[in-house]
Amino acid sequence: MIKQESEFSGLQKEILELKNKRNAIILAHLYQRPEVQDIADFTGDSLGLSEEAAKTDADVIVFCGVHFMAETAAILSPEKTVLLPEVNAGCPMADMITAEQLRAKKKECPDAVVICYVNSSAEVKAESDICCTSANAVKVVRSVPADKRILFVPDRNLGHYVGLQSGREVIYWEGFCNTHDRLTAEQLQKAKQDHPGALVMVHPECRPEVVALADRIFSTSGMIRFAKESDHNEFILGTESGILHKIRKTAPGKKFFMASDELICPNMKATTLEKVKLSLEEMQPRIIVPDQIRDKALGAVERMIAVK
Ligand code: 13P
Ligand code: SF4
Repeated sequence: MIKQESEFSGLQKEILELKNKRNAIILAHLYQRPEVQDIADFTGDSLGLSEEAAKTDADVIVFCGVHFMAETAAILSPEKTVLLPEVNAGCPMADMITAEQLRAKKKECPDAVVICYVNSSAEVKAESDICCTSANAVKVVRSVPADKRILFVPDRNLGHYVGLQSGREVIYWEGFCNTHDRLTAEQLQKAKQDHPGALVMVHPECRPEVVALADRIFSTSGMIRFAKESDHNEFILGTESGILHKIRKTAPGKKFFMASDELICPNMKATTLEKVKLSLEEMQPRIIVPDQIRDKALGAVERMIAVK
Protein backbone atom coordinates (compact mmCIF):
# COMPACT_ATOMS: atom_id res chain seq x y z
CA MET A 1 0.00 0.00 0.00
CA ILE A 2 1.55 3.32 -1.07
CA LYS A 3 1.33 6.11 1.48
CA GLN A 4 -0.42 9.38 0.60
CA GLU A 5 1.68 12.57 0.72
CA SER A 6 -0.35 13.84 3.73
CA GLU A 7 0.45 10.72 5.78
CA PHE A 8 4.20 11.46 5.90
CA SER A 9 5.84 13.22 8.86
CA GLY A 10 7.70 16.51 8.37
CA LEU A 11 11.04 14.69 8.42
CA GLN A 12 9.86 12.13 5.88
CA LYS A 13 8.67 14.92 3.55
CA GLU A 14 12.05 16.67 3.82
CA ILE A 15 13.79 13.41 2.88
CA LEU A 16 11.52 12.90 -0.13
CA GLU A 17 12.23 16.46 -1.34
CA LEU A 18 15.98 15.92 -0.97
CA LYS A 19 15.66 12.60 -2.74
CA ASN A 20 14.05 14.27 -5.77
CA LYS A 21 16.65 17.05 -5.78
CA ARG A 22 19.48 14.48 -5.86
CA ASN A 23 17.74 12.20 -8.38
CA ALA A 24 18.07 9.43 -5.79
CA ILE A 25 16.26 6.16 -5.17
CA ILE A 26 15.76 4.80 -1.64
CA LEU A 27 16.03 1.03 -1.26
CA ALA A 28 15.12 -0.52 2.11
CA HIS A 29 15.44 -4.07 3.37
CA LEU A 30 12.36 -5.61 4.97
CA TYR A 31 14.11 -5.66 8.37
CA GLN A 32 14.43 -1.86 8.46
CA ARG A 33 12.45 0.33 10.86
CA PRO A 34 8.81 0.85 9.68
CA GLU A 35 9.24 4.62 9.22
CA VAL A 36 12.29 3.99 7.01
CA GLN A 37 10.50 1.33 4.94
CA ASP A 38 7.65 3.82 4.41
CA ILE A 39 9.83 6.34 2.53
CA ALA A 40 11.49 3.74 0.31
CA ASP A 41 10.86 3.50 -3.43
CA PHE A 42 11.36 -0.23 -3.09
CA THR A 43 11.40 -2.63 -0.12
CA GLY A 44 12.50 -6.19 -0.53
CA ASP A 45 14.83 -9.03 0.33
CA SER A 46 18.51 -9.12 -0.62
CA LEU A 47 17.80 -10.51 -4.10
CA GLY A 48 15.04 -8.01 -4.90
CA LEU A 49 17.12 -5.09 -3.70
CA SER A 50 20.16 -6.09 -5.75
CA GLU A 51 17.93 -6.45 -8.85
CA GLU A 52 16.52 -2.95 -8.26
CA ALA A 53 20.03 -1.54 -7.73
CA ALA A 54 21.10 -3.07 -11.04
CA LYS A 55 18.25 -1.61 -13.08
CA THR A 56 17.65 1.86 -11.62
CA ASP A 57 18.50 4.94 -13.67
CA ALA A 58 18.74 7.19 -10.59
CA ASP A 59 22.12 8.89 -9.99
CA VAL A 60 22.16 8.06 -6.28
CA ILE A 61 21.16 4.90 -4.40
CA VAL A 62 20.42 5.38 -0.70
CA PHE A 63 20.73 1.90 0.77
CA CYS A 64 18.78 1.41 3.97
CA GLY A 65 20.21 -1.94 4.94
CA VAL A 66 23.63 -3.22 5.94
CA HIS A 67 27.09 -2.78 4.48
CA PHE A 68 27.25 -5.83 2.18
CA MET A 69 24.00 -4.78 0.51
CA ALA A 70 25.29 -1.30 -0.33
CA GLU A 71 28.53 -2.87 -1.50
CA THR A 72 26.61 -5.20 -3.83
CA ALA A 73 24.83 -2.14 -5.27
CA ALA A 74 28.23 -0.47 -5.80
CA ILE A 75 29.56 -3.62 -7.50
CA LEU A 76 26.59 -3.62 -9.88
CA SER A 77 26.45 0.15 -10.52
CA PRO A 78 29.93 1.67 -10.12
CA GLU A 79 28.90 4.85 -11.94
CA LYS A 80 26.27 5.61 -9.29
CA THR A 81 26.75 7.19 -5.88
CA VAL A 82 25.81 4.55 -3.29
CA LEU A 83 25.08 5.89 0.20
CA LEU A 84 24.81 3.81 3.38
CA PRO A 85 23.20 6.23 5.88
CA GLU A 86 24.64 4.38 8.91
CA VAL A 87 28.17 3.40 7.96
CA ASN A 88 28.53 1.12 11.01
CA ALA A 89 25.57 -1.04 10.00
CA GLY A 90 27.48 -4.22 9.24
CA CYS A 91 26.47 -7.87 9.14
CA PRO A 92 28.21 -9.99 11.80
CA MET A 93 27.85 -13.08 9.60
CA ALA A 94 29.57 -11.36 6.65
CA ASP A 95 32.45 -10.54 9.00
CA MET A 96 32.90 -14.22 9.92
CA ILE A 97 35.05 -14.93 6.87
CA THR A 98 37.86 -12.92 5.27
CA ALA A 99 39.24 -13.26 1.74
CA GLU A 100 42.47 -14.63 3.24
CA GLN A 101 40.58 -17.33 5.16
CA LEU A 102 38.66 -18.25 2.03
CA ARG A 103 41.88 -18.52 -0.02
CA ALA A 104 43.29 -20.91 2.61
CA LYS A 105 40.09 -23.01 2.61
CA LYS A 106 40.11 -23.22 -1.20
CA LYS A 107 43.56 -24.80 -1.03
CA GLU A 108 42.10 -27.60 1.14
CA CYS A 109 39.44 -28.40 -1.49
CA PRO A 110 40.79 -27.11 -4.84
CA ASP A 111 38.20 -29.01 -6.91
CA ALA A 112 35.18 -27.43 -5.17
CA VAL A 113 33.00 -24.71 -6.71
CA VAL A 114 32.82 -21.77 -4.28
CA ILE A 115 29.35 -20.36 -3.65
CA CYS A 116 29.20 -17.31 -1.43
CA TYR A 117 26.07 -16.07 0.24
CA VAL A 118 25.52 -12.41 -0.67
CA ASN A 119 26.02 -11.68 3.05
CA SER A 120 29.78 -11.42 2.49
CA SER A 121 32.37 -8.75 1.72
CA ALA A 122 33.27 -7.70 -1.85
CA GLU A 123 36.72 -9.29 -1.28
CA VAL A 124 35.10 -12.65 -0.43
CA LYS A 125 32.81 -12.37 -3.47
CA ALA A 126 35.90 -11.70 -5.59
CA GLU A 127 37.33 -15.06 -4.40
CA SER A 128 34.10 -16.94 -5.20
CA ASP A 129 32.77 -18.59 -8.36
CA ILE A 130 29.15 -17.59 -7.88
CA CYS A 131 27.05 -15.69 -5.40
CA CYS A 132 23.57 -16.53 -4.03
CA THR A 133 20.88 -15.06 -1.79
CA SER A 134 18.46 -16.93 0.46
CA ALA A 135 15.84 -16.66 -2.32
CA ASN A 136 17.87 -18.42 -5.02
CA ALA A 137 20.45 -20.49 -3.06
CA VAL A 138 19.00 -23.91 -3.99
CA LYS A 139 18.75 -22.95 -7.68
CA VAL A 140 22.35 -21.70 -7.65
CA VAL A 141 23.55 -24.97 -6.08
CA ARG A 142 21.64 -26.95 -8.73
CA SER A 143 23.33 -24.87 -11.46
CA VAL A 144 26.72 -26.30 -10.48
CA PRO A 145 27.82 -29.38 -12.53
CA ALA A 146 26.76 -32.56 -10.71
CA ASP A 147 30.29 -33.96 -10.44
CA LYS A 148 31.55 -30.93 -8.51
CA ARG A 149 31.70 -30.55 -4.74
CA ILE A 150 30.50 -27.23 -3.34
CA LEU A 151 32.26 -24.99 -0.84
CA PHE A 152 29.56 -22.76 0.68
CA VAL A 153 30.46 -19.64 2.68
CA PRO A 154 29.85 -18.08 5.16
CA ASP A 155 26.47 -19.37 6.52
CA ARG A 156 26.59 -22.91 7.90
CA ASN A 157 22.79 -23.03 8.33
CA LEU A 158 22.02 -22.01 4.75
CA GLY A 159 24.85 -24.32 3.58
CA HIS A 160 23.26 -27.21 5.47
CA TYR A 161 19.82 -26.38 4.08
CA VAL A 162 20.93 -26.21 0.42
CA GLY A 163 22.81 -29.50 0.85
CA LEU A 164 19.62 -31.20 2.09
CA GLN A 165 17.45 -29.68 -0.65
CA SER A 166 19.78 -30.47 -3.52
CA GLY A 167 21.24 -33.78 -2.32
CA ARG A 168 24.70 -32.35 -3.14
CA GLU A 169 27.89 -32.62 -1.14
CA VAL A 170 28.33 -29.21 0.50
CA ILE A 171 31.35 -28.24 2.57
CA TYR A 172 30.26 -25.25 4.60
CA TRP A 173 31.97 -22.50 6.56
CA GLU A 174 31.00 -22.18 10.24
CA GLY A 175 29.51 -18.69 10.01
CA PHE A 176 26.00 -17.82 11.19
CA CYS A 177 23.56 -14.95 11.64
CA ASN A 178 23.40 -14.13 15.33
CA THR A 179 19.78 -13.06 14.99
CA HIS A 180 18.36 -16.11 13.18
CA ASP A 181 20.68 -18.60 14.88
CA ARG A 182 19.33 -17.43 18.26
CA LEU A 183 15.95 -19.05 17.60
CA THR A 184 15.84 -22.45 19.31
CA ALA A 185 13.71 -25.52 18.55
CA GLU A 186 12.23 -25.19 22.08
CA GLN A 187 11.09 -21.62 21.39
CA LEU A 188 9.51 -22.65 18.10
CA GLN A 189 7.79 -25.66 19.75
CA LYS A 190 6.36 -23.30 22.36
CA ALA A 191 5.07 -20.90 19.65
CA LYS A 192 3.43 -23.87 17.88
CA GLN A 193 1.71 -24.92 21.13
CA ASP A 194 0.49 -21.35 21.69
CA HIS A 195 -0.86 -21.05 18.13
CA PRO A 196 -1.82 -24.59 17.07
CA GLY A 197 -3.60 -23.54 13.85
CA ALA A 198 -0.76 -21.37 12.52
CA LEU A 199 1.48 -22.26 9.58
CA VAL A 200 5.20 -21.99 10.42
CA MET A 201 7.48 -20.12 7.98
CA VAL A 202 11.19 -19.79 8.81
CA HIS A 203 14.21 -18.26 7.12
CA PRO A 204 16.97 -20.70 6.03
CA GLU A 205 19.48 -18.78 8.19
CA CYS A 206 17.82 -20.57 11.16
CA ARG A 207 19.39 -23.66 12.72
CA PRO A 208 18.72 -27.04 11.01
CA GLU A 209 16.61 -28.29 13.96
CA VAL A 210 14.43 -25.16 13.66
CA VAL A 211 14.15 -25.52 9.86
CA ALA A 212 13.08 -29.17 10.41
CA LEU A 213 10.09 -28.00 12.49
CA ALA A 214 8.83 -25.50 9.89
CA ASP A 215 6.07 -25.96 7.29
CA ARG A 216 7.75 -23.64 4.77
CA ILE A 217 11.26 -22.20 4.31
CA PHE A 218 11.43 -18.82 2.59
CA SER A 219 13.47 -15.67 2.14
CA THR A 220 11.73 -12.63 3.59
CA SER A 221 10.01 -11.69 0.29
CA GLY A 222 9.00 -15.33 -0.16
CA MET A 223 7.20 -15.25 3.21
CA ILE A 224 5.30 -12.10 2.27
CA ARG A 225 4.23 -13.51 -1.10
CA PHE A 226 3.11 -16.80 0.44
CA ALA A 227 1.15 -15.13 3.28
CA LYS A 228 -0.80 -13.08 0.73
CA GLU A 229 -1.54 -15.95 -1.65
CA SER A 230 -2.16 -18.86 0.74
CA ASP A 231 -5.51 -19.90 2.24
CA HIS A 232 -4.00 -19.92 5.73
CA ASN A 233 -4.96 -17.12 8.08
CA GLU A 234 -2.40 -17.49 10.87
CA PHE A 235 1.37 -17.70 10.62
CA ILE A 236 4.33 -18.12 12.97
CA LEU A 237 7.39 -16.31 11.60
CA GLY A 238 10.98 -17.40 12.21
CA THR A 239 12.83 -14.36 10.90
CA GLU A 240 13.73 -10.79 11.89
CA SER A 241 10.74 -8.92 13.32
CA GLY A 242 11.03 -6.00 10.84
CA ILE A 243 9.10 -8.21 8.38
CA LEU A 244 5.90 -7.61 10.37
CA HIS A 245 5.47 -4.12 8.92
CA LYS A 246 5.17 -5.18 5.30
CA ILE A 247 3.60 -8.59 5.81
CA ARG A 248 0.73 -7.07 7.81
CA LYS A 249 0.11 -4.47 5.08
CA THR A 250 0.34 -7.05 2.30
CA ALA A 251 -1.94 -9.61 3.96
CA PRO A 252 -4.38 -7.51 6.01
CA GLY A 253 -6.78 -9.45 8.22
CA LYS A 254 -4.31 -12.31 8.67
CA LYS A 255 -2.51 -12.94 11.97
CA PHE A 256 1.26 -13.10 12.40
CA PHE A 257 3.13 -14.29 15.48
CA MET A 258 6.89 -14.06 15.93
CA ALA A 259 8.48 -17.40 16.90
CA SER A 260 10.38 -15.51 19.62
CA ASP A 261 10.56 -11.88 20.75
CA GLU A 262 14.37 -11.95 20.45
CA LEU A 263 14.45 -11.83 16.64
CA ILE A 264 15.84 -8.33 16.23
CA CYS A 265 19.00 -7.46 14.26
CA PRO A 266 20.55 -4.31 15.83
CA ASN A 267 22.46 -3.55 12.62
CA MET A 268 19.24 -3.46 10.63
CA LYS A 269 17.72 -1.07 13.16
CA ALA A 270 20.71 1.31 13.14
CA THR A 271 19.42 3.30 10.14
CA THR A 272 17.11 6.12 11.24
CA LEU A 273 15.23 8.80 9.30
CA GLU A 274 17.66 11.42 10.68
CA LYS A 275 20.61 9.48 9.24
CA VAL A 276 18.88 9.05 5.88
CA LYS A 277 18.32 12.81 5.69
CA LEU A 278 21.91 13.61 6.67
CA SER A 279 23.27 11.19 4.07
CA LEU A 280 21.29 12.93 1.32
CA GLU A 281 22.41 16.36 2.53
CA GLU A 282 26.10 15.48 2.74
CA MET A 283 26.16 12.74 0.05
CA GLN A 284 28.04 10.63 2.59
CA PRO A 285 28.85 7.93 3.80
CA ARG A 286 29.60 6.68 0.30
CA ILE A 287 30.40 3.02 -0.42
CA ILE A 288 33.06 2.49 -3.08
CA VAL A 289 34.54 -0.85 -4.16
CA PRO A 290 38.08 -0.67 -5.63
CA ASP A 291 38.12 -1.61 -9.35
CA GLN A 292 40.37 -4.68 -9.08
CA ILE A 293 38.06 -6.25 -6.45
CA ARG A 294 34.89 -5.06 -8.16
CA ASP A 295 35.74 -6.67 -11.50
CA LYS A 296 36.11 -10.13 -9.93
CA ALA A 297 33.19 -9.76 -7.49
CA LEU A 298 30.94 -8.62 -10.36
CA GLY A 299 31.55 -11.94 -12.13
CA ALA A 300 30.20 -13.87 -9.11
CA VAL A 301 27.15 -11.57 -8.78
CA GLU A 302 26.37 -11.63 -12.53
CA ARG A 303 26.63 -15.42 -12.66
CA MET A 304 24.03 -15.50 -9.86
CA ILE A 305 21.69 -13.12 -11.70
CA ALA A 306 21.99 -15.29 -14.84
CA VAL A 307 20.70 -18.40 -12.97
CA LYS A 308 17.01 -18.74 -13.80
P1 13P B 1 17.00 -12.15 2.69
O1 13P B 1 16.95 -10.69 2.46
O2 13P B 1 17.61 -12.87 1.54
O3 13P B 1 15.71 -12.72 3.11
O4 13P B 1 18.05 -12.40 3.87
C1 13P B 1 17.83 -12.01 5.14
C2 13P B 1 18.97 -11.36 5.79
O5 13P B 1 19.38 -11.75 6.84
C3 13P B 1 19.57 -10.22 5.18
O6 13P B 1 20.56 -9.73 5.99
FE1 SF4 C 1 23.40 -10.15 9.11
FE2 SF4 C 1 21.54 -11.62 10.30
FE3 SF4 C 1 21.44 -9.00 10.56
FE4 SF4 C 1 20.89 -10.15 8.20
S1 SF4 C 1 19.71 -10.36 10.10
S2 SF4 C 1 22.18 -8.35 8.58
S3 SF4 C 1 22.29 -11.90 8.26
S4 SF4 C 1 23.09 -10.36 11.30
